[in-house]
Amino acid sequence: MMKDNAIPFLDLVAPHLEAEEELVLLFREALRAGRFIGGPVLDGFEADFARFCGAQHCVGVGSGTDALRLALVAAGVRPGDTVVTVPNTFIATTEAISQAGALPAFVDVDRHTCNMDPEALREFLETGCEQKNGRAISKRTKSPVTAVIPVHLYGQTADMDAITGLAEKSGLLVVEDACQAHGAQYFSKREKRWRTAGSMGVAAAFSFYPGKNLGACGEAGAVTTGSPEIAEKVCMLRDHGQSRKYYHEMEGYNGRLDAIQAGILRLKLGKLARWNELRRQNAARYDALLAGVEGLTLPHEPPWSKGVYHLYVIRTEMRDELQDFLNKKGIATGLHYPVPLHMQNAYSRVLWYGKGDFPVSERLAGEILSLPMYPSISEAQMRRVTGSIRDFFKTRG
Ligand SMILES: Cc1ncc(COP(=O)(O)O)c(C=O)c1O
Repeated sequence: MMKDNAIPFLDLVAPHLEAEEELVLLFREALRAGRFIGGPVLDGFEADFARFCGAQHCVGVGSGTDALRLALVAAGVRPGDTVVTVPNTFIATTEAISQAGALPAFVDVDRHTCNMDPEALREFLETGCEQKNGRAISKRTKSPVTAVIPVHLYGQTADMDAITGLAEKSGLLVVEDACQAHGAQYFSKREKRWRTAGSMGVAAAFSFYPGKNLGACGEAGAVTTGSPEIAEKVCMLRDHGQSRKYYHEMEGYNGRLDAIQAGILRLKLGKLARWNELRRQNAARYDALLAGVEGLTLPHEPPWSKGVYHLYVIRTEMRDELQDFLNKKGIATGLHYPVPLHMQNAYSRVLWYGKGDFPVSERLAGEILSLPMYPSISEAQMRRVTGSIRDFFKTRG
């Protein structure tokens, strides 16, 4: 049981209370139309979300994991290929690579942004690969490195100019894992304009898991892309490889986004810009309230980034003690993520990595702490969180 004055990590009630009548109406309309898969509501959401991301196409799918897997397959990743990503992410990123038949390879993250370090990618491509006819062949797997997945973790994009530049040189496809970054902005120096997450790779994957900045009332995801061919292929793959009913161009999956979730997402999408702005304001408030606490590192936003603070992640060497201290005061926190992927049991027998291979990710795993962050968190709640953190460091100082 939560204490009455407990501060939850997430608030999944407020955003739905705000739109309760409209949501009920939408559900009633779906029941009365008797249309649950496909149809105009899904088409409408896809068009709206594509526009929101500045992408030409959006294809709704069953989850973020589906979105990643289908994006990789549709973009042309083949069984046996190697796909590079980071160890500091949720396991769905590498599950999608393996489920596409490819092998995951890792490069470390930047210690300030916690996202893919372009220098580590450069080093991997220069020293971990042989270049043949403009393609990178992994020395370890002897297989072509065909794609890179930068993960826009915590709601902040990776440094896409640098990553895209390196990918282009080695003929790599860039597939964004934008599952935590609905609406995150990146200033591209190459293009001299702000870009939105989901519009910068050949394809991008979004999750609409309920706790995300744009969340469904169940499982849901989407692929965005500028390529009509990739969009068409994802459409077929999500629906058993069908081009039309019972005519299968390939084997696919059951990976559709249902019409009720699409309706809910379409309604909530209209509020997303405001919700993201509130998250940014709350992050700025946390920054101000926590400024100057010795032993604490606050989230870093480079000048090229306007993050959407899916998570507000602080760092301290006394992480476990601090989490325990806050927990006793009724303040819930999270760890994203406590074990880097190269050290997960799931990969201990199948990948060749071990402790020490990605020191930045390993260090972060022991220091990161996600504070309560949502549009509806109040000033008083943030003051209680930050006041408790200050108290903790005072007694330890
Ligand atoms: C970075 C990242 N990638 C992929 C996923 C997978 O999304 P889903 O849970 O919708 O399958 C998530 C979801 O938590 C995520 O945070």
